[in-house]
Amino acid sequence: MTTSILLCPVCKESLQANESNKSLSCENNHSFDRARQGYLNLLLAHKKKSKNPGDSQEMVIARQAFLNSDFYRPISDSLNQIVVEAALKLSKETLAQPLQVLDIGCGEGYYSQRMHNSLSDHQIEHKLHGLDISKDAVIAAAKRAKAESTLTSKPVQSEWLVASAIDIPLQAHSIDIATCLFTRLMPESYHKVIKQDGYFICVNTGEKHLIELREKLYDKITKVEFDPIKNMGEDFELIDQQQVSYQNTLSSQQQIQDLLLMTPHNWRTKAENKESLSSLEELTVTIDAQIHVFKAKEVIQAQAAIEEESAEEETVEEKPAVKTSSSNPWAKAEAAVEKPAVENTDIEDSVIEQLAEPAEKEEPQNSKPNPWGKS
Ligand SMILES: C[S@@+](CC[C@H](N)C(=O)[O-])C[C@H]1O[C@@H](n2cnc3c(N)ncnc32)[C@H](O)[C@@H]1O
Repeated sequence: MTTSILLCPVCKESLQANESNKSLSCENNHSFDRARQGYLNLLLAHKKKSKNPGDSQEMVIARQAFLNSDFYRPISDSLNQIVVEAALKLSKETLAQPLQVLDIGCGEGYYSQRMHNSLSDHQIEHKLHGLDISKDAVIAAAKRAKAESTLTSKPVQSEWLVASAIDIPLQAHSIDIATCLFTRLMPESYHKVIKQDGYFICVNTGEKHLIELREKLYDKITKVEFDPIKNMGEDFELIDQQQVSYQNTLSSQQQIQDLLLMTPHNWRTKAENKESLSSLEELTVTIDAQIHVFKAKEVIQAQAAIEEESAEEETVEEKPAVKTSSSNPWAKAEAAVEKPAVENTDIEDSVIEQLAEPAEKEEPQNSKPNPWGKS
């Protein structure tokens, strides 16, 4: 068995599995049992801001049904191609160690599992970790992995974790490739776990994404693209970007409702506005996804940038109202995203409250640059 890169969420010491791999513990005897479905819950109760943070079970079920129809498969295929290329480059550089891969905000595991299969198809030795704050999502992902292993008669080799992306319970600089799809970016947290020169690949929505659906829900559409480069800036260097753009037809009322349910438009839009969708049996929509490939800058370089930034800040007398801070992984995103319309997460209650206000038939301004927005 390879040494685990998991960290104890209590004391941050290394977590190692017992003989049967049914539980893991650290040298301070903090112990975590594997759930029956195979996942590990490393999210401590006092770190949660609500009972069930992240996507609800209803959203998870809708997302799974929708993604299983392969409507977004071209996104997954493009991502896999990029991940395999990155993995092949890294495999040449590393000394026969299996690559450590992490999918942050993995949801119910559609993209993670396909990525795992694609790496395996290319005989790339790796260990995949899927992490999400939603227990329901992680249960679904672990079940997906188990079902797939039964089908292929291979043991489950992936690790499914309930944990927050803000405090990833993995060893510092242990990850070769991290991905993050349609989930808010927290570069400083990612930088802690990605190896120097390791890859970070994110997928976000472009400005035309689901435009036809949004036109049905709102009178006025805000066409502003989320800019991951601004968000990732300091600690990561952009090395490539790709657009995945196509049209596809939602071919049943159920599929339309599943798509709606997995997006924030569902709780952002008034019931009467959603009426316009309820009689449709098909709807052709544009899929517009942006893939950005970054490399983690060397720690030393990133550290120098932080120091330079603080030196500059010290010389400024009046500080801006919203300031980015290297110790707060949310701060940069907050500054750049400007009250983002997040999906149902416990992280930003104020944002959720704001979005819970009755929506006008106008796409909210806060749906501006929003990586969560229109998946
Ligand atoms: C829009 S969904 C995307 C899921 C998946 N990546 C996909 O594209 O199918 C966003 C996911 O991020 C998760 N999430 C929200 N806040 C999180 C956090 N702080 N840490 C980890 N996951 C989080 C949600 O539970 C949800 O599963």
